[in-house]
Amino acid sequence: MDTFKAKEFNLPNIDGISVSQIEEHLKLYKGYVTHSNKIVSQIEEWKKTDTDPYLISELRRRFGFEFDGMRSHEYYFGALEGGLNPINQESGLSKKITEQFGSFENAMSELKNVAMTRGSGWAIMYFDKEYGRIQIAWIDEHHLGHLSSLQIIIAIDMWEHAFMVDYLPSEKLKYIESYIKALNFKVVESWFDKAI
Ligand SMILES: [Fe+2]
Repeated sequence: MDTFKAKEFNLPNIDGISVSQIEEHLKLYKGYVTHSNKIVSQIEEWKKTDTDPYLISELRRRFGFEFDGMRSHEYYFGALEGGLNPINQESGLSKKITEQFGSFENAMSELKNVAMTRGSGWAIMYFDKEYGRIQIAWIDEHHLGHLSSLQIIIAIDMWEHAFMVDYLPSEKLKYIESYIKALNFKVVESWFDKAI
């Protein structure tokens, strides 16, 4: 029996990100779920045999890549469900952003700058409960550089597969702006509220 189950996302039409782009991307998301399950079940199988422990440990090494690939995509697509909703000025997230960045625009500008980092990875806005502050970070691939125990608030997929149907690599800023514009901040605010 599978440990992880692919989520179904009820996504609206998105200005600047085509239906075919989203459909291709969802197929890739499901691949991360499949491979997370495959690693868990294969390790269990091998443990029952005399499989070389080296092979098992190398498979374990891949788990963070597949699992974080799965989970980050769930935040990515989850924040688009329900259609765009601007940030509520009275929300805890809005107040925290203003306190820390001066304005919503400044925070999004910082997030865009991080998203423009060269390479395949993710630009993630987290909330750090320990220090009561927002942290924006670049993650290489899916799993290299995640900040331990911080809650994901916004996750922008910056692998080329996320935008290549619609944009050339040199146009990726347009994709980033389209994604941010499409966010349902009711969902994003709920993740922030959960974190505090
Ligand atoms: Fe992706």
